[in-house]
Amino acid sequence: MKFFVDTADVKEIEELNALGLLDGVTTNPSLILKSGGSIADVTRQICAIVDGPVSAEVVATDYAQMMREAEVLAAIADNVCIKVPLTLDGLKACKAIRTGMNRHVNVTLCFSANQALLAAKAGATFISPFIGRIDDTGADGMDLIAEIRTIYDNYDFETEILAASVRTVNHVKQAALIGADVVTAPPATLRALVQHPLTDKGLQAFLADWAKTGQKIV
Ligand code: E4P
Repeated sequence: MKFFVDTADVKEIEELNALGLLDGVTTNPSLILKSGGSIADVTRQICAIVDGPVSAEVVATDYAQMMREAEVLAAIADNVCIKVPLTLDGLKACKAIRTGMNRHVNVTLCFSANQALLAAKAGATFISPFIGRIDDTGADGMDLIAEIRTIYDNYDFETEILAASVRTVNHVKQAALIGADVVTAPPATLRALVQHPLTDKGLQAFLADWAKTGQKIV
């Protein structure tokens, strides 16, 4: 499973990348707002840190303007992945970007299996089902991940399932069990994956016993 971080915070990205755990980054207009920077500057900085795909989202809603924005975003760096919304214009742009610009595309705001089917047919590199926002409605976002996994496997679609709107470590585990190809999660959720009280307790015991030996390794 690939790990993307869902943030436009350059410092957070630097720190996580230094751990060797990052395969990519996802941003969206709300995260760019939170960063306080311009989309061009922030995306350029992120792309200089992370080798993998960095999703930068178009904000136009019509095909022609989406394509113009995609050209501008793609010029920022080779690893910019163009993020388009799951609309008819977005799907048309997805197909055109994949075939004409030879760029990776992340189709975002996916809330149904049929939407995911359309994105795969449009040649999307990634489909982003929003788990947390589905959970917020009282449904189970993980059911959608499972449905998409089945459909994509039925037809050998190469589009990767990018589990998005991840809020908890359990979301990560469930998405991994179902077979999502990628998870994008906020920095705090990625860091929380390492935590277990028995790890902390065991480490304390080992260190206490080691101190009693009076030894040093170096
Ligand atoms: C990622 O690509 C999405 O934009 C993001 O995961 C949305 O998360 P949210 O529902 O927490 O805003």
